[in-house]
Amino acid sequence: MMLAPSILSADFAQLADEVDRVAAEADLLHVDVMDAHFVPNLTIGPPVVKSLRKRTDLYLDCHLMVDNPEVLLDDFADAGADGCTIHIELGDPRPLFARMRELDLRVGLTHNPETPVEAVLPYVEEIDFLLFMSVHPGFGGQAFIPSVLDKLVAARKVVDDLGADVELQIDGGINRETAPRAAAAGADILVAGSAIFHADDPAAAAREIRQAAWPTTT
Ligand code: DX5
Ligand code: ZN
Repeated sequence: MMLAPSILSADFAQLADEVDRVAAEADLLHVDVMDAHFVPNLTIGPPVVKSLRKRTDLYLDCHLMVDNPEVLLDDFADAGADGCTIHIELGDPRPLFARMRELDLRVGLTHNPETPVEAVLPYVEEIDFLLFMSVHPGFGGQAFIPSVLDKLVAARKVVDDLGADVELQIDGGINRETAPRAAAAGADILVAGSAIFHADDPAAAAREIRQAAWPTTT
């Protein structure tokens, strides 16, 4: 049961300080990489990961919302990323999984809210993270799409039946209200951006999300 603050909603002009503010409450740091093509927004890439790497030991989990992740994997590995997550909507992910393993990157696979969970289930024994998008990728601060919970429940069962060693993550619209629903549906890792970084006290907001999601373990 882990929490991954998404730096998309942080103040990029003070990024290292923003990370320091939440570090004690973060299990991973979620880094949204957007190319203004796969999604209609443009963010950051390997140079920023390289700078972050010098400032934090947190696991850097790079969510690649780009058309050509294959041209970036080496650069993310060189920059010090711990793992990359790619979208199934781009097609056969296996060549990218293979390259990520060669680069010693942990492997994540994700899918958009409208993509059936059946598209990603065949890969659960080959990956480290399966990410459920609970908003349409591209922007922070959107409303949670509750139908994603049904997909999460279905995947949780498949993963448990197989005994697959994969963590289920959910990303988008996670806050104190939606976090318990995502946890109950079987999420291992909650990604939250605006609910943490737009709060007056980001660490307290992260703690509250964690307590709401997993009251007996926190
Ligand atoms: C959206 C990104 C998310 C985003 C979530 O495309 O993948 O990681 O940061 O932001 P919130 O938590 O504000 O919905
Ligand atoms: Zn993301």
